[in-house]
Amino acid sequence: MSPPSRPSGFWPTDSSSLSLEAGEKKMTEKETNMNIERIAVLGAGTMGHGIAQAAAVSGYQVSLYDVADDVLEQALTKIGSNVQKHLVAKGKMSEQEGAETLRRIRLTSVLKKAVEDADFVIEAVPEKLDLKKDVMAKVDALCPPHTILASNTSVLPVTAIASATTRSDKCIGTHFFNPASVMKLVEVVLPIGVSEQTVATTLEVCRKMNKAPVKVKDIPGFIVNRLLGLLYQEAAQMVLEGTATPDEIDTAMRLGAGHPMGPCELADFGGFDVIVMAGDGIFDYTHRERDRVNILYRKMLEAGRLGRKNGKGFYDYLPDGSKKPFKLF
Ligand code: 3HC
Repeated sequence: MSPPSRPSGFWPTDSSSLSLEAGEKKMTEKETNMNIERIAVLGAGTMGHGIAQAAAVSGYQVSLYDVADDVLEQALTKIGSNVQKHLVAKGKMSEQEGAETLRRIRLTSVLKKAVEDADFVIEAVPEKLDLKKDVMAKVDALCPPHTILASNTSVLPVTAIASATTRSDKCIGTHFFNPASVMKLVEVVLPIGVSEQTVATTLEVCRKMNKAPVKVKDIPGFIVNRLLGLLYQEAAQMVLEGTATPDEIDTAMRLGAGHPMGPCELADFGGFDVIVMAGDGIFDYTHRERDRVNILYRKMLEAGRLGRKNGKGFYDYLPDGSKKPFKLF
């Protein structure tokens, strides 16, 4: 049976709500400059704590929410040590500025407290569509009418997440990259129905967080993961074929293509669970053979190898911080 064909032309190309360059020009200064002071970050895991750090470093008041108190405490400890090691110790910030940065972060496990006075919410809860929709629906009911609701997702449909709220014009995607405190890019994902003011304000928030935002339509994989997916699939295929080992592939791409990490290291860094989830999302949309998740990632998961998050990926990550290639077969 042939796969269902990709929806052709389902995305408007000349809709005024998406014609951002024109839209940005049309707006007055007052309309674009919605004043954002308080940001709520929902989920204090890998992405959430990095986003909270970037926001607090840029001067925003941040509410960091998670259901688990221990996750919140760990997040604040990580942010504190990152600020000390990467900013204060390197003279990029004074001791006092470092302490003020941490004081700008308020931890809470009560959703209402996190969002009731927020101007901008960034949800970074686990990548499950029903969970994200549920969180966004609750936030919609708890936060002020002016609040913008942003979703940090690698691959899930922001349009569907926005549909769980009563304010789809104020819903948008902000896809940060791991590590979120360091990586400059934010993909600003435009769901159907987003307003020009929401887009303009989001771009401004990203820039104030010292990020470089790039707008992209709400198509699975957006820009970066759609391209990275091809690298992951091809690298795994070369490993399976015996063309080269993960270590050889990584060395080649670091030294021959100037990538900071080779594709196998990067797959370990993101985690095979994320690669499979994101890859399946992209394949479900494109139905192109080249986008199909390579079976090696599913085998790795079956073997209990998640990547760096449990110390077992294409490499074994040792307690002293070093890594050594894992013999697959
Ligand atoms: N907070 C603040 N600054 C930090 C930091 C932190 N947590 N961690 C590192 N830094 C700073 C360092 O102080 C250093 O600053 P300097 O250049 O001014 O001295 C700079 O960042 C680089 O850090 P390091 O020297 O410690 O380490 P590396 O040079 O090895 O870089 C890396 C580490 C940035 C992770 C680099 O290896 C890299 O860019 N890797 C690729 C990461 C990548 O591609 N991420 C995207 C993955 S895909 C994704 O996220 C999408 C998702 O949907 C799956």
